[in-house]
Amino acid sequence: MAKYAAALDQGTTSTRFMIFDHHGQVVAMDQKEHEQIYPKPGWVEHNPLEIWERTQEVIEGALRKSGISPKEIAAVGITNQRETTLLWEKATGKPVYNAIVWQDTRTDKICNDLAAEGGQDRLRPKTGLPLATYFSGPKIRWILENVPGVRERAERGEILFGTMDTWIIWNLTGGVHVTDVTNASRTLLMNLQTLDWDDELLDLLGIPRAILPQIRSSSEVYGYARGALEGVPVAGDLGDQQAALFGQACYDPGEAKNTYGTGCFMLLNTGTTPVPSQSGLLTTLGYKIGNAPAVYALEGSIAITGALVQWLRDNLKMIENSRDIEGLARTVEDNGGIYFVPAFSGLFAPYWRSDARGIIVGLTRYINRGHIARAALEATAYQTREVLDAMNRDSGITLTALKVDGGMVYNQLLMQFQADILGVPVIRPKVAETTSLGAAYAAGLAVGFWETFDELRANWGKDTEWHPQMSPELREKLYAGWKKAVERTFGWVE
Ligand code: G3P
Repeated sequence: MAKYAAALDQGTTSTRFMIFDHHGQVVAMDQKEHEQIYPKPGWVEHNPLEIWERTQEVIEGALRKSGISPKEIAAVGITNQRETTLLWEKATGKPVYNAIVWQDTRTDKICNDLAAEGGQDRLRPKTGLPLATYFSGPKIRWILENVPGVRERAERGEILFGTMDTWIIWNLTGGVHVTDVTNASRTLLMNLQTLDWDDELLDLLGIPRAILPQIRSSSEVYGYARGALEGVPVAGDLGDQQAALFGQACYDPGEAKNTYGTGCFMLLNTGTTPVPSQSGLLTTLGYKIGNAPAVYALEGSIAITGALVQWLRDNLKMIENSRDIEGLARTVEDNGGIYFVPAFSGLFAPYWRSDARGIIVGLTRYINRGHIARAALEATAYQTREVLDAMNRDSGITLTALKVDGGMVYNQLLMQFQADILGVPVIRPKVAETTSLGAAYAAGLAVGFWETFDELRANWGKDTEWHPQMSPELREKLYAGWKKAVERTFGWVE
């Protein structure tokens, strides 16, 4: 009898492999970073071959460290940074270009041209998404238009497209070309109702159907692994934010989570019907378990949160390790009157402004490194407040607490400030590795390692809760300052 379920999480900055026991406890883990490639301002790429190498290394690493054999693993689930786009040769597996990362803004013109007729929201009725550089469809089009010969070869059926889930599954299984509904819902090419690629959207974006993977549920056996995981069923596939929703056991409409990673993504389960957004959120897929009806979500996507801390570390050399940000921020009492709006990839929800760029406002000679560190952390909390307000408006449900997860939730200063700025408690679960856990759950459900949602719910436990301590007057005053700062970021790029 297999004792474990595993997950491979291919994220924006690193790839990790985790093995869980039946109680959802982590029993083994390995993780490796990969290179971030910035060829021009606003461009971000990854080398897909490097990512596949790191994937194999972390699988081997976790197995070696734990002594667990593939026979003990019931199934493996894949979860991934969403939207990041690559095309490769079907015959050789060679990418035709680097992967274009979700944060990349090079498709600005493609999106503006498409929005010229019908506006930025013209595709919302079918896809739930605004026309924005964030999504995969325009990135595919950019590669087809800019890499010589690729369009012709794509039309001849020699080229395959995938987001990172598809790339990993194709390599892991030796050629199964699939994606799941959650990843497909981020392309601007899938119809939210039919859960299939939509001919009208494919025509509009000029994308040949032949390159597209088959869209499957998030929990079923897609194929069997080769290599270090030889024979293990590959049975779960979810975009990382949807995997976190699933790992946080948000199985009922009205349940929400917020994940603090490179960016920050709040998802609210809205049940089996898609809820349109009037407030700049996305209508997206939450998950689909085998033949059960698909579950939809409302999502507030923020592009830069943890990435701002990394930027202070790598580009400004202000800190040596990301976790040092908290100590530096604690050297000062407050933000000294400054706001840092990290619109490095434009602004995502609720604004969808690709013409925005980052700013620090309110500078005086009084300001030191501590204030900048503090303003950087506060930016995450303010952006989350904007998204939560939009969520309350769109869903008609007022969230009374927020479940959180991801790397930044160990930052006490940030979590307290988050509760203060939201005015509701913030709750961190015992297993904060909810992205990997959600993918392992999806895979485990497909093979009967877990059988019911109740079993998964029973694995969830509270670790820490932060309660709001700030006065409502101060909260609203600070938030008004943030809103004013955001206004100043607009219109920096033509
Ligand atoms: O949509 C982008 C998101 O999936 C990236 O997640 O955790 O890699 O920052 P993360």
